[in-house]
Amino acid sequence: MSFDFDAVIDRRGTGSNKWTRYAPDVLPMWVADMDFAVAPSITEALRARLDHPVLGYATAKDSLRAQIVSEMRVRYDWRIETSDIVFLPGVEPGFNMAMKAFMQPGDTIAIQTPIYRPILRAPGHWDLRRRDIVLSPGAQGDWPLDVDAFAAGLHGCGAFLLCNPHNPTGKVYTRAELTQIAQICAREDVLIISDEIHGDLVFDGRAHTPIASLSPEIAHRTITLMAASKTYNIAGLKTAFAIITDPALRSRFEAHRLGMVDSVNLFGLVATEAALAGGGAWRDALVRYLQGNRDFMVETLRRTIPEIGIHAPQSTFLAWLDCSKLHLPESPQAFFLREAKVALSAGDEFHETDTASFVRLNFGCTRATLAQGLEQIHQSLVRR
Ligand SMILES: Cc1ncc(COP(=O)(O)O)c(C=O)c1O
Repeated sequence: MSFDFDAVIDRRGTGSNKWTRYAPDVLPMWVADMDFAVAPSITEALRARLDHPVLGYATAKDSLRAQIVSEMRVRYDWRIETSDIVFLPGVEPGFNMAMKAFMQPGDTIAIQTPIYRPILRAPGHWDLRRRDIVLSPGAQGDWPLDVDAFAAGLHGCGAFLLCNPHNPTGKVYTRAELTQIAQICAREDVLIISDEIHGDLVFDGRAHTPIASLSPEIAHRTITLMAASKTYNIAGLKTAFAIITDPALRSRFEAHRLGMVDSVNLFGLVATEAALAGGGAWRDALVRYLQGNRDFMVETLRRTIPEIGIHAPQSTFLAWLDCSKLHLPESPQAFFLREAKVALSAGDEFHETDTASFVRLNFGCTRATLAQGLEQIHQSLVRR
């Protein structure tokens, strides 16, 4: 079966956050959802569910739990039980619940910066100290783990929030790096909160490794957060899940919904099951298309605007662009919004002090849209 990722779908007027925030003449390439139609298996399952006219509170069916167990075994060789799974209305509530559940005000949590803003901000919600371990691109642009800096950064921390694959750099941690991270976390007795929401979107034949799959001992100190939402473009259905193999950790985590993290959206559960059960071919085709977009974007930027620093992302549909050599008189986000009519995510969303000259570009769109956005960016610099 083939899927048409080149089809341009007008999302204006659909209540899309991405397509509503900016003026109609602005091309939105910011928030992390894609402009593609969902897999046919998802549409069919949602339609079928609507044939039943009652839409009360939902709970995950046994078949969905079994599907996730099978997914973890087949894709990652990770054996979990259906009871290890906790459904959540998002990964963001999940890492906030974990911080609240397992840390006390004043405790320190390590993160690797730059990083997705809700992760950057979460420690502050719970009066935690934040330790920023800076990720650097390295000579090959693969953002290698600096083991010594990581070990030093983790010392004295109560938890480490891993974002793998990493937003905004697109880094995919290798198995060897994850093993080193896990060993250091075990040595320092640090809880691991692992945001793996982009785990399916890895390029160039790479494999995603859930850190908890490395060993039962590591799993027992890890809260793994996953969702079908990024891969299958169903983020608006607000459905995710945690996998927590340690029963004591799991019940403590569950106890910290605190009246704020409620049950999960009925359609999100239906769509998640349909995605995992019947969306594999669509997902594989999507990853090929996104990898093609990635290559097109890197080649185009290097040819037309070599001053922009870019390291080919290893995963996701997000590119982290270093605009410092453009010497713009303002933030690149503001410049490109006004002069190119392209809305990107501002670098200072990803760190308070280090990343103001960066932007993040969402290439989860048709190739034609991507080409148009890159051309508008290029022309804005030619006119300057
Ligand atoms: C790394 C990462 N974690 C979490 C989220 C948000 O997940 P959710 O909508 O399930 O809260 C995103 C969305 O962009 C993300 O990139």
